[in-house]
Amino acid sequence: MSDLDALLMETLAQVAAAADESALEAVRIAALGKKGSISALLATLGKMAPEERKVQGAAINAIKDKVTEALAERRVILKEQELEARLTAETIDVTLPVLARPEEQGRIHPITQVMDELAAIFAEMGFAIAEGPDIETDDYNFTKLNFPPDHPARDMHDTFFFEPDAEGKRKVLRTHTSPVQVRTMLTQKPPIRVICPGRTYRCDSDQTHTPMFHQVEGLVIDRSAHLGNLKWILEEFCKAFFEVPDVKMRFRPSYFPFTEPSMEVDIQCSRKGGEIRFGEGDDWLEILGCGMVHPNVLRNCGLDPDVYQGFAWGMGIDRIAMLKYGMPDLRAFFDADIRWLNHYGFRPLDMPSLLAGLSS
Ligand code: DAH
Repeated sequence: MSDLDALLMETLAQVAAAADESALEAVRIAALGKKGSISALLATLGKMAPEERKVQGAAINAIKDKVTEALAERRVILKEQELEARLTAETIDVTLPVLARPEEQGRIHPITQVMDELAAIFAEMGFAIAEGPDIETDDYNFTKLNFPPDHPARDMHDTFFFEPDAEGKRKVLRTHTSPVQVRTMLTQKPPIRVICPGRTYRCDSDQTHTPMFHQVEGLVIDRSAHLGNLKWILEEFCKAFFEVPDVKMRFRPSYFPFTEPSMEVDIQCSRKGGEIRFGEGDDWLEILGCGMVHPNVLRNCGLDPDVYQGFAWGMGIDRIAMLKYGMPDLRAFFDADIRWLNHYGFRPLDMPSLLAGLSS
């Protein structure tokens, strides 16, 4: 075998052995690069006699062409192999469960969910949201709401009192959301339509009571707001909230210092198999207190009871959340147990709306 044949064989073997594109490039440079073995041979042509050059030139160029061709073929094969490898390595198993992104992993607490549902339902009826502070004056929590001074009704609420200040006045942790009614009437001109959701506090603790709980208050003040309006609003609310086409309600006479007349409202339910269902059955369940705002309260808030009248209601948010979502123990609401939250919580990006569904 001539030297040229040996060089060709060796170079072709190297081309065939190149495992990837960079190895192939190294082979190319070693053969055809400026200092490559074939280039070196081509450089010797200049010193040859014309006859020899003719023969050798043709032979060396033939090697060069063969090597160039082999390099090109090998490059195509390597590219195909690389693509094949990537396609195998990068396949996606579409049957695998989708990993939730961090912002989708958290859960909305049922109380927050129910507050959002309340806001969605009442916004649709034209109500705004009003808020007040958790630490309230005795005046707003009781006196302006027509609780007589030293009346036992103040104790009825198991109030958390603060130490008296220099003037002997005691602040309280608000025992209900009704003081937000007072704040609203003192600062807004009728017509008023608000709901006031928020935290409330009473010194009480068992399976259905916690020292901190949540209420939502409703208040409507106008020249002609009447009990018929109240009844309609509450019925529409119950149907929308419990997501049933129809619900029967029962209004029983009751007593609250800030309303006259005052009523408690029960809704129809069935309790078959220990499970409460609304819109069916012949049992009743109390869900809220309500009434026409007492003329004294209107007067205390600077409104003339001969011109304005209105109605109000108050409801336990935790209680209606427990009823709607079948959560038996109120205390679990405030344990911050991640397993409970994962089970009862709501997906963060599903905002309740009447159109898209409140709780779907
Ligand atoms: N504030 C009352 C409570 O905590 C609930 C209530 C009853 C609110 C009747 C009202 C109402 O606005 O009219 O027990």
